[in-house]
Formats: sequence, structure tokens, C-alpha cells
Amino acid sequence: MTRTQGDVYESLNAVRTPQSVSKHPSDLNSQSMRLSNTVKTLKPSATIAAATKAKELKAQGVKVFEFTLGEPDFTTPEHICEAARQAIADGETHYTPAAGIPKLKQAICDNYQREYGLSYEPSQVVVSNGAKHSIHNVLTALCGPGDEVIIPTPYWVSYSALVELTGATPVLVPTTQESGFCLSAEQFENAITEKTRLLMLNNPCNPTGAAYPVATLEALAKVAVEKQIPVLSDEIYEKLIYDGAEFRSFASFGEDVKDLTIIVSGVSKAYAMTGWRIGWTLAPVDVTKAMSNLQSQQTSNPCSISQFAAIEALNGPQECVGEMLEKFKERRKYVLDRLNKIPGLSFATPGGAFYAFFDVSSYFGKPLLGGVTVDNATDFCTALLEQAQVGLVTGDAFGAPGYVRLSFATDLETLEQGLNQLEKFLKG
Ligand SMILES: Cc1ncc(COP(=O)(O)O)c(C=O)c1O
Repeated sequence: MTRTQGDVYESLNAVRTPQSVSKHPSDLNSQSMRLSNTVKTLKPSATIAAATKAKELKAQGVKVFEFTLGEPDFTTPEHICEAARQAIADGETHYTPAAGIPKLKQAICDNYQREYGLSYEPSQVVVSNGAKHSIHNVLTALCGPGDEVIIPTPYWVSYSALVELTGATPVLVPTTQESGFCLSAEQFENAITEKTRLLMLNNPCNPTGAAYPVATLEALAKVAVEKQIPVLSDEIYEKLIYDGAEFRSFASFGEDVKDLTIIVSGVSKAYAMTGWRIGWTLAPVDVTKAMSNLQSQQTSNPCSISQFAAIEALNGPQECVGEMLEKFKERRKYVLDRLNKIPGLSFATPGGAFYAFFDVSSYFGKPLLGGVTVDNATDFCTALLEQAQVGLVTGDAFGAPGYVRLSFATDLETLEQGLNQLEKFLKG
């Protein structure tokens, strides 16, 4: 049986004294406020929901092997933390320009010049509260009711929800394990209609780990230019690349492609800075201005202290990125070796990010640990958590039925124990 949030709430309350018993959350609902249509159908992020479930079990004292959340387990490198402390000491605690402080915008431009030979001006940069916020800005600036946005699946959980928030329609285009979960130029072209406003590309991809081959990107870029379709290129995992896979920014295929590209990236994944909430966009000036205006009304500016930390992340020593990448490499190899040895699982080798995304559908209908049977990936993940205390995210959340996602952004020992548990669970 699946435990509901109510069950967990009851069990947490059971250990409190009578004086400390609080009201059930549903008793605190408004009697007179009506929710808007925009939020009524909005679901919480599936990855955050899966992590919450695992945390609830942990709160009850259960040992849980948690591979749900997409964030590095490392703490932010010390020199970056020190820059933040210095910013506080220097009194950098005020509002900043809406699109970010000039020094950070310059550091971002310098970074793209240095890393990829791409020339951007600070007037083309908006710094936001994380890359997720950047994506929301792009979609709000470019899309509205009646528009279509092409999203290759499997896709990151928030893409379709954020498109829907603008009133536009997500057009999901399935990719296959055989293609390494990469959208082909032909698929892109076939999905384009008169209503198409944008392609959302995620390279390297969450959840599949797909790192697009340069030739595929080039072919997609050619279609984008021919059909004049803008591309939101979410490159947040750009620095996490393995086994000789090559990362190429979508904007690097010529000036005409760059004119159609909005790069989204940030410091969250490469510098273990998820909590600092700094992401950015690089885009043509008019789109940048629109997003900056939008942001000035929404949030005023991203956190001033985090912006100073991000300057240090980009301008400071880069060894920390390589060191974390080495750890991810080791974990990735370990996880893939183990998964390869488990009969009935299949996956496309991830070239980037920190996820293993594998097909578990051959286990549907068979008795698993505790005698349970399941017939979809969501029930698989629920049973796995309940029977073996392993937290994975269902592929259903990513538009990929039959698959599950394991984040290997955690230490080797936990990975080993969790994979032992997974094996036990599958053996039944
Ligand atoms: C593909 C993708 N894009 C964007 C983000 C958001 O990054 P941030 O934490 O900077 O908002 C994530 C985070 O998981 C992600 O996986």
C-alpha cells in the first residue's frame, strides 16, 4: 500500500506531546479563496516529490538509499563560499540591477569566450534565480496561448509544466534508446507547424544523460535556420561530460544559429551551487531586454551575495570542477558496470550529466521483493522505496514510461548499498 502524505503526517504527530499536536494541513485551507486555473492543474516537480517521499521515510528513522535528486552531493568549494562571506562583509547586501551586476555579466561573457570562442556582450545576459527561473523567463518572453513548443522526450520534468504556464502547448516528440535519446533533424522538421515558436533542447540531457553528437546538433541547427525556429538550449550540464563525448554549445554553429539560440546555463551543477540559485541566459538583445523587464517586475534581482559567489566560481580557480568531475566519472563507471550485470535492464550509455536512465519494463508483472508485482514505472518506484528503501524517479515523470532515473550524484558507498538493494528487489 502506498503511504499518503496524510499517513506520514499522522505518524509524525503520533510521537509528539498532546500540546504540540498541530492541525491537519487540510484544516488550514481557505474557506473563501478560489485558486486560479493556472495553478489548479499544476503538479509539484516529480523529482522533488520523489525526494520528499524518501525524506519522510528517513524522518521516521528508516535507512533510505536516495538517488532521486539531481544535485551534486559536494559542498560548494571553499573559495566560492569565501567570496560570498566577503560580499557580506563589504556590504553587498542591497538590490542589484534586475538582470545582474555588471561584473557577473562580464564574467559570464568572458567564460563563453574562453570556453567556446563565443562572443557575447553583457547586454545579452540576464542572471536569474537558477536556470529553472531562466527557462521560465525565456518561455514567458517568447510564448503564449496558441503557440507550440517542441520538446524531445524523455525531457526534464519542468519543461512541459513551464510551457503550460504560459498558455502554450508542449509538443512532445519521443526519441528512442537506439538513437541515444537524441532528437534527429528529421523529427524536428516533421514536428514544426505554423504555430511552432521554440525548440527546447537539453544537452547533456536530464534524465537520459544523452550528450548530443556534434553532427546531430549541426543538422538540428540547419533545420532551425531554414525554418527560422528559435532554440532554447539548456546547457546546465555542459561541464559534466564523459568518455570522450564532446560538448558543443548550440550557439557555436554560426552567427545565424547564434541569432536563433537562447543559451540557458548556470552554476548549480558544475560548481555544486544548487542552493545559491544563480542561472543565466545569453540571447539577442531585444529578448534579453524583455526578460530583464519581466524579472524586474517578478523578483527585482537574483540574490546579491550569490552573484558575488558566482563571479568567483567563474573567474576563480577551476580545479574544483575537474575534481568533482573525476568523482562523477568513478561513480558513473561503477553504476553502469553494476547495471550492465543485472539481467533485464537496458539503457543508452549516458555521455553527460549524472544520471543513469534505464528500462525496467521487463520486470513488470513478475514477483519482486515482498511478492509485489507492478505494471508501470511509477508503481515500480513506489514498491522499490517501500520494499527495499531505494529512491529512484519514475520515467513517467519524464515522458518515458517503463524507465527509471538514478542520480549518481552521491557517494560510492551509498551507491553500492543501494544497488545491492535494487538487485535484491528485482530478484524477488
Ligand atoms: C535540465 C535542467 N535544466 C535546468 C535545471 C535547473 O537548474 P537550477 O538549479 O539552476 O535552477 C535543472 C536542475 O535539475 C536541470 O536538470
